[in-house]
Amino acid sequence: MAEIIDGKKISQQIKDELKDKVEALKANGKTGALAVIQVGEDPASSVYVRNKKNACAYIGIESLAYELPEETSEEALLKLIGELNEKEQVKGILVQLPLPNHICEDKIIQAISLKKDVDGFHPQSVGAMTIGEPGFLSCTPAGVIQLLKRSNVEISGKHCVVIGRSNIVGKPMALLMLRENATVTVTHSRTQNLKEICRQADILIVAMGKPRFIGAEYVKEGAVVIDVGIHRDENNKLCGDVKYEEVQQVASAITPVPGGVGPMTIAMLMSNCVQSIEEE
Ligand code: GUN
Repeated sequence: MAEIIDGKKISQQIKDELKDKVEALKANGKTGALAVIQVGEDPASSVYVRNKKNACAYIGIESLAYELPEETSEEALLKLIGELNEKEQVKGILVQLPLPNHICEDKIIQAISLKKDVDGFHPQSVGAMTIGEPGFLSCTPAGVIQLLKRSNVEISGKHCVVIGRSNIVGKPMALLMLRENATVTVTHSRTQNLKEICRQADILIVAMGKPRFIGAEYVKEGAVVIDVGIHRDENNKLCGDVKYEEVQQVASAITPVPGGVGPMTIAMLMSNCVQSIEEE
């Protein structure tokens, strides 16, 4: 039976460390706010945005909520970002994705000042991460690294297989594991022999976006399995990309859904916000 990697507990530890840091920064006159922008009313996005605001309140930083109607124009959103870029108190700007189809996400991401890009999605933030320069790391992959490190999983020299190549998770995940000296294989929807490749992984990171797809036959005995997926099944129950019940029989450690990677994304966002306040 696998050890459960408890993302809820680890994210709580991180938020408590950040809370102390924020208090110390305040004593030195350093404060700041996170601006959270949501366009439209996608219910999943609303939950994420609410959780982000609650996390800010918990660690003691201000959050400014901008809830804009679905029909908001790209120009109006760009104008708001321009204003927030100039506001001294605002140390982080987060635009919740996905955006409505009439708004170009790339254009919006690139409009955010590098110094306030706490999501780490700006091409220059991604470039800095790629070459190991300082900058904001994208939150979900950074959260996975923290989960592994704080669970004492050795990364260096291990074979890590990442399933998925999205800009938000798969690609930065592979780069961060490489930075930690793993040997990394990136797989995706066109990969042939996916099962055979996954069975070679010491650490299998699943971010494919297919509910309960990865069964025990994809997992080497004793591997560590990280499930980045989050879905609602036919009974409205949350599940990941991994068949948890059967994979936990062969893995040595596994993240549950919910309570695995999800809470870590928000903890790392808070970490980026605190870093931004520190660096002012
Ligand atoms: N949508 C899904 N995940 C994320 C995230 O980490 N940041 C933002 N801004 N939008 C998202």
